[in-house]
Amino acid sequence: MQETAHPWAILGALDREVALLRERMAVDRTERALGTEFAFGTLLGRPVALACCGVGKVNAAACATWLLCARGCGLILNAGIAGAVGHGLRTLDVVASRELCFHDQDPVMLKYFPARRFFPGDPALLDLCRRACARPGVLQGAYREGRVATGDRFVADRATRDRIVADCAPDCVEMEGAAIAHVAFAAAKPCLVIRTMSDCADDDADDVYDDFIERAADQSARIVLAMLEEARA
Ligand code: ADE
Repeated sequence: MQETAHPWAILGALDREVALLRERMAVDRTERALGTEFAFGTLLGRPVALACCGVGKVNAAACATWLLCARGCGLILNAGIAGAVGHGLRTLDVVASRELCFHDQDPVMLKYFPARRFFPGDPALLDLCRRACARPGVLQGAYREGRVATGDRFVADRATRDRIVADCAPDCVEMEGAAIAHVAFAAAKPCLVIRTMSDCADDDADDVYDDFIERAADQSARIVLAMLEEARA
């Protein structure tokens, strides 16, 4: 893991996705911008900037841009929950972003900057995440490095799920990751998205989500804490 004096940016979309991190963080100051509160301080001794960016691609991209470009963060992590669609994936399994794409993008967009369908997860952050997840007590489910598909839609029906699988074959669907990865790519900063499965993006998704959101969100936050521990080990 390359050392950087710049803070790690950490984003979650929901309060619960950042709750554990905020609890453990020593906050030096907060700043309000773009309708969001950003906390600056240290987490396990490392400088970090943490925010609950809100749901969806634009909220996530706005906060990522501000942290990476206006506040000089050196890398960005996005931790939270997702709907499992990859073969064999179950609730409480983890997907770390080997790559990310948008599932609601017209192919015409590929003609324009950044002219790519997939954004890579940073290899060094993936390596750190893998080692963090191998630590005892961090994971309740299985670990996978896979494809994350992002769109401005909560996927909760079979037809939509099947259409997304046919289109881009992701391991999981969520609503912010590729937007953050797109910004990080444009800013040339490392990025990793870490998602614990809260549901299976099918007709039962709303009910299953309610049962698993807290455990799933907390597990992704625990992985970030383990990454910070692993980075200083
Ligand atoms: N986040 C968690 N579950 C999701 C789903 N089914 N669709 C989109 N985002 C999600």
